[in-house]
Amino acid sequence: MTRKVTVLGSLNADAILHIPRLPKQGETMAMHDATTAPGGKGANQAVAAARMGALTQFVGAIGEDQNGIMMFEAMADNKVNTTHIKKMTETGTGAAYIMLEDDGSNTILIHGGANQALTVADIETASEAITSADVLVAQFETPLDVTAKAFELAKQNGVFTILNPAPAHKGIPAELLGLTDLIIPNETEAEIITGIEVTDDASMEANARKFRELGVPNLIITVGARGAYYSTVNGAGFVDAFKVNAVDTTAAGDTFIGTLSSQLELDLSNIVEAIRFSNRASSITVQGAGALPSIPNYDQVKAAFEN
Ligand code: RIB
Ligand code: NA
Repeated sequence: MTRKVTVLGSLNADAILHIPRLPKQGETMAMHDATTAPGGKGANQAVAAARMGALTQFVGAIGEDQNGIMMFEAMADNKVNTTHIKKMTETGTGAAYIMLEDDGSNTILIHGGANQALTVADIETASEAITSADVLVAQFETPLDVTAKAFELAKQNGVFTILNPAPAHKGIPAELLGLTDLIIPNETEAEIITGIEVTDDASMEANARKFRELGVPNLIITVGARGAYYSTVNGAGFVDAFKVNAVDTTAAGDTFIGTLSSQLELDLSNIVEAIRFSNRASSITVQGAGALPSIPNYDQVKAAFEN
């Protein structure tokens, strides 16, 4: 049976500014190049799930502009169902300005635009896409109350919920955490929610305990190039990442989450294999330029294991 994944989230046109290093305040500096690519955490995660073979639906919003057309086509071309992508007449498509330095590190400014214009009423309109899914995935580039509504609907219908609390956000409503089956932060995002800095194994375990107190039974902390820590109802451990030369790490986390949502058994029985597969997928994403365009498909991930 094919996994059904619904992603509630952002669609961004990424303006990628290729620069030698970050400018200093007041400085004028020449760029190497500027390019545009489809991105947005929601879009990247949905495309990752779809490229891994999941039947994927999207709930989100775009403006009626060139960037909106680019995002809509990127989703459709990747077989993500676009029925619930709302077209806004008065608000532009979301955008991200990604400063990509020569060493591959990035700094991102986002402008929410249409992503922030999603409403609770849109969740009612899209209810079928949520209740019919196996897994619902959301991030923090769309309004919190909309995510809470979607998670409530999901839980009432036995849908497994995955929350990627990114970008980092203070003061997540307790209600939303209580509706989350699996939370996937990076180290920074985990610390912002729990107040516990991620350093060693003990601090990761302390994070897991804190998340359980907050009502989230299962946790994966992605730790960049090192890999991922997991702590679920079935046990805990660390799964190492694959070592590669990164050229652009944008969407590495999104690839991990979208891939995991398509591969994870919902009793979490294959958590280690699913994380390994998702790590492998991310290791391919970081070797390619741009967010969404660099996400691999299932066959590419399989092949990478054989090389
Ligand atoms: O996670 C990567 C994404 O974050 C980029 O594609 C950009 O759009 C920002 O939202
Ligand atoms: Na990339």
